[in-house]
Amino acid sequence: MDSLIKLFASLLLFFFSSLLFGETNGVEGSKQNHHLYGFRPTKLFVFGDSYADTGNIKKSLSYTWKFPYGITFPGKPAGRFSDGRVATDFLAKFVGIKSPIPYFWKDYAGKKRLQHGMNFAYGGTGVFNTLAPLPNMTTQIDFFQKLLIAGDIYSTSDLTSSVALVSVAGNDYSTFIAQNRPAAEFPGFIKQVVDQTEVNLRRIQAFGVKKIAVPSLQPLGCLPGVTVASSFQRCNESQNALVKLHNNLLQQVVAKLNNETKQSTFIILDLYNAFLTVFKNKGANPGSTRFESPLKPCCLGVSSEYSCGSVDAKGVKKYVICDDPKTAFFWDRSHPTEEGWRSVYSVLRKSLTASLMKA
Ligand SMILES: *[C@@H]1O[C@H](CO)[C@@H](O)[C@H](O)[C@H]1NC(C)=O
Ligand SMILES: *[C@@H]1O[C@H](CO)[C@@H](O)[C@H](O)[C@H]1NC(C)=O
Ligand SMILES: *[C@@H]1O[C@H](CO)[C@@H](O)[C@H](O)[C@H]1NC(C)=O
Repeated sequence: MDSLIKLFASLLLFFFSSLLFGETNGVEGSKQNHHLYGFRPTKLFVFGDSYADTGNIKKSLSYTWKFPYGITFPGKPAGRFSDGRVATDFLAKFVGIKSPIPYFWKDYAGKKRLQHGMNFAYGGTGVFNTLAPLPNMTTQIDFFQKLLIAGDIYSTSDLTSSVALVSVAGNDYSTFIAQNRPAAEFPGFIKQVVDQTEVNLRRIQAFGVKKIAVPSLQPLGCLPGVTVASSFQRCNESQNALVKLHNNLLQQVVAKLNNETKQSTFIILDLYNAFLTVFKNKGANPGSTRFESPLKPCCLGVSSEYSCGSVDAKGVKKYVICDDPKTAFFWDRSHPTEEGWRSVYSVLRKSLTASLMKA
């Protein structure tokens, strides 16, 4: 049991080592997707964590508003947990709409900017409360519900042409570890996380959202914060085994929900296998970059007490950064680079086309 706890221990770095936050505009316009058939989404609503956040956290609270975050896109720090675009941006591009505006910026945006949907995701959050004093997924869905009730931006009829992205990337587990909860509770806790995810998915569906994309949990044992132990050579397979438990339960929940609704409303985005496919890519997968050392991050603290972007009291930088972020899959200890996300979405493209665009 003890090893279960240790398994996830290394995830801590995930979001807590680095709570800071993001902007929004300047998301590149995207052409209508030529794969569209049947269903043509006009809006994307996003719930979740740093894999999806495009700038909801206040500047004073997030390291992502500091150099070198955002150097690739939009060219300066703007709240994304990457050098550039993240999962939300690539999913928006896939469905052929602009990346939705972060909830935090809604009052500063023109009406036109709001028509692509909204991003309620906050880096560092989970389905339950985490160490980050930020809105958990229940609260994020409450924000959405309030907007729907007010009815001045979105109406329920908009939702029939909407897609939701629900990102749960592991912060509940890093919080469990940080709280030193008994190891014996771990498997039960995984079940609780998935059960709460089910509650959340049901709520979003009940509003009338047409398609709901649910990423599986990525291989946490392959994150740089974990693989640093093997000089970024090997994933920790015992950690990945626990991730598979989460993913199996999630798969069952989604199958159950789809069976109940009799429409393929819920779609698993198989992030777990997409990450592994990209790591193993020897060039056979067109569209996906071949990364020389896929587990090695581009930006890394000079020692374990520092992280990407750290500076000391004198302002001396305490991190190293690779020459070209395009050559790295991972940006920092837990987040992919823009090029990493581009490759993941290129791997997911076929299954997205088959499932998301179906009427
Ligand atoms: C995998 O992670 C666990 C928990 O962090 C650790 O106890 C174990 O030694 C790791 N395994 C390898 C092969 O590094
Ligand atoms: C989400 O956060 C709110 C406010 O902190 C809290 O009352 C609620 O219990 C949390 N929801 C879950 C499922 O943990
Ligand atoms: C789907 O739901 C029906 C009842 O509506 C049930 O009889 C059937 O066993 C379910 N199938 C699966 C695969 O869960």
